[in-house]
Amino acid sequence: MKITIENLTKKFGDSTAVDNLSVTLESGKLIALLGPSGCGKSTILNMLSGILPVTSGKIFFDERDVTGLSPDKRNIGLVFQNYALYPHMTVLENICFPLEIKKMPKKQRIERAKELAELVRISEYLQRKPGELSGGQQQRVAIARALAKEPELLLLDEPLSNLDAKLRVETREEIRRIQRASNVTTVFVTHDQEEASSISDDVILMKKGVLQQQGTARELYDQPVNFFAADFLGAPPINKLYGFVENGQFRFEQSELRYALPLRRQIKDGTPAILAVRAESVVVPAEENRLPATVVERYSINKDELSILKIAGQELRGFISGDYPLTIGGEIEISLKDRGVFLFDRETGERLA
Ligand SMILES: Nc1ncnc2c1ncn2[C@@H]1O[C@H](COP(=O)(O)OP(=O)(O)OP(=O)(O)O)[C@@H](O)[C@H]1O
Ligand SMILES: [Mg+2]
Repeated sequence: MKITIENLTKKFGDSTAVDNLSVTLESGKLIALLGPSGCGKSTILNMLSGILPVTSGKIFFDERDVTGLSPDKRNIGLVFQNYALYPHMTVLENICFPLEIKKMPKKQRIERAKELAELVRISEYLQRKPGELSGGQQQRVAIARALAKEPELLLLDEPLSNLDAKLRVETREEIRRIQRASNVTTVFVTHDQEEASSISDDVILMKKGVLQQQGTARELYDQPVNFFAADFLGAPPINKLYGFVENGQFRFEQSELRYALPLRRQIKDGTPAILAVRAESVVVPAEENRLPATVVERYSINKDELSILKIAGQELRGFISGDYPLTIGGEIEISLKDRGVFLFDRETGERLA
């Protein structure tokens, strides 16, 4: 089912939690709703589910306007951070419960529950109580229960935040697998950019209730529309070099050093700017457009060697092959790739190059 959100706004008193959001969620996709705490993710999800009334705007499920419908008329599956399983019921009873409400005959609902248990790989625990399961297993039961009614839309609000790091990675891969197998349109809320990037077809990036960018994680990473998007995606965080625009070039703060890159439009001299550089865009040995740098530190994270350099007095972290000889305190030359290097207006965050 395709979801269309049109000019959706939610106000709580004077404050606007979601501000005039218009996006389309394609049918059968897993969409990550990404952004920092308080940016309106849960509010959007709760309006999709019908738990929260909208202030203005419309929500369509395919061609159907569901804006005024109550949650039970929307045919959605919901999973929250605290899975809220019924503790006194077995796993089987938990999954069957929504089907019982729907008055499905007992034999049929047990069959369906067993299919779902198979899908989420919890068949061997059907007779256990939730308290006798690990966090990840409980989470999968919650997903099975949400899928039991054959929802046309599955809504997951930070479903992995109660799990430890390893289980989080495993469970998110499970969610991806289950989503592909069931092919149900799914919205997955997270504030973790890596989580969003690793499992979603599409990312919706929010800041303070305002849509920043929608696209694949790759598109957001390679073509961020503004400074916020460039800074929110990627680890280590994108390097930020401060300076201003002068004669169509970037000039480093308190330095004569300049860097030329193709500006998207004419920019007034003296405009404060940030040259944003991904760590993998630092090139050593240098090619064209060389910049002088000092080596401050180098250390390895797994297979990559991350080096800390200083350039015009500002710190720059770059991945430099471990085979390349670097002396701490030594002077080197670097260049920057075209890819992963952006220029932003320091005040507005607008992308200038
Ligand atoms: N019931 C409410 N009454 C008043 N303000 C609210 C209410 N619910 C949410 N807000 C405010 O709306 C904004 C968005 O909240 P929301 O819960 O959607 O954020 P979120 O992106 O889900 O954050 P988190 O990652 O912390 O869960 C916040 O500023 C929050 O304080
Ligand atoms: Mg939330």
